[in-house]
Amino acid sequence: MPRVTYVNGRYVDHRQAAIHVDDRGHHFADSVYEVLPVAQGRICHLEQHLDRLERSLASLAISWPVPRRVLPHILAEVTRRNRLVDGLVYLQASRGVAPRYHPFPVDTPSSLVVSAWAHSGPSEAQISQGIKVVTQPDLRWKRPDIKATGLLPNVLARQSAREAGAFEALLINDRGFVTEGSATNVFVVGADGALLTHPADNSILGGVTRSNVLKLARNLGLEVGERPFTLAEVQRAREVFLTGTTMMVMPVVRVDDTSIGDGKPGPITFRLRDMYKDLRRS
Ligand SMILES: Cc1ncc(COP(=O)(O)O)c(C=O)c1O
Repeated sequence: MPRVTYVNGRYVDHRQAAIHVDDRGHHFADSVYEVLPVAQGRICHLEQHLDRLERSLASLAISWPVPRRVLPHILAEVTRRNRLVDGLVYLQASRGVAPRYHPFPVDTPSSLVVSAWAHSGPSEAQISQGIKVVTQPDLRWKRPDIKATGLLPNVLARQSAREAGAFEALLINDRGFVTEGSATNVFVVGADGALLTHPADNSILGGVTRSNVLKLARNLGLEVGERPFTLAEVQRAREVFLTGTTMMVMPVVRVDDTSIGDGKPGPITFRLRDMYKDLRRS
């Protein structure tokens, strides 16, 4: 069955799906995106993703390519046409097509692309054994809270992880704090059993998974702190895990050459992973 992708009002064969070379997303990464999980054929956390998209668009003064209320229909239609059961829906909205010139074009409609693919997340072995991560300097611009497509520093950090045989790179800013991963948020469980993650300020992307896991942790009665933390705190942690749409809650057992806790995924991580999986299914 051919994959179907939505491009500016049309559902087309994915192999023919194309945007104009003068799209500002192509020239300037003048575009924002969302990745939404699909479980059992249904899009999860839709309103949370649309809220974040609204914020990203507003922060960059990009107008909605279609009204917000229309977007769920397009996302559902792409899911349906691809007969997607478990996977991801990707949407990207750019400031539109215009001759290459830095200031915003006038009266130019924004562009919209929506595609989808099957995705089953990390393997059971990776989840049960936990993963290794490396550290990298956080080289991004000062607004990574906006989900913009200019992801070159994230790509380079992730590639360095791959070259080191690791799964993800933790980004460390100029002040020595661990902000987040290249495509994930980072949580630590301290020696006192309290959960800690970087606050959702301008220096991280406020993950939808992050905010759902925080709610679950509070429901569980865990003490939860949102403050910047250092690599030394990560190294001393009892447990470390990552959150993100593509991997849900992912245990980390090694950071560079340091083993975390007893070198195995911890019980709080697994408990939150199970709770989050249930939330997705519901
Ligand atoms: C830099 C960054 N941080 C965190 C996340 C996790 O966000 P979410 O849970 O919404 O997938 C992502 C996801 O793409 C990301 O790119």
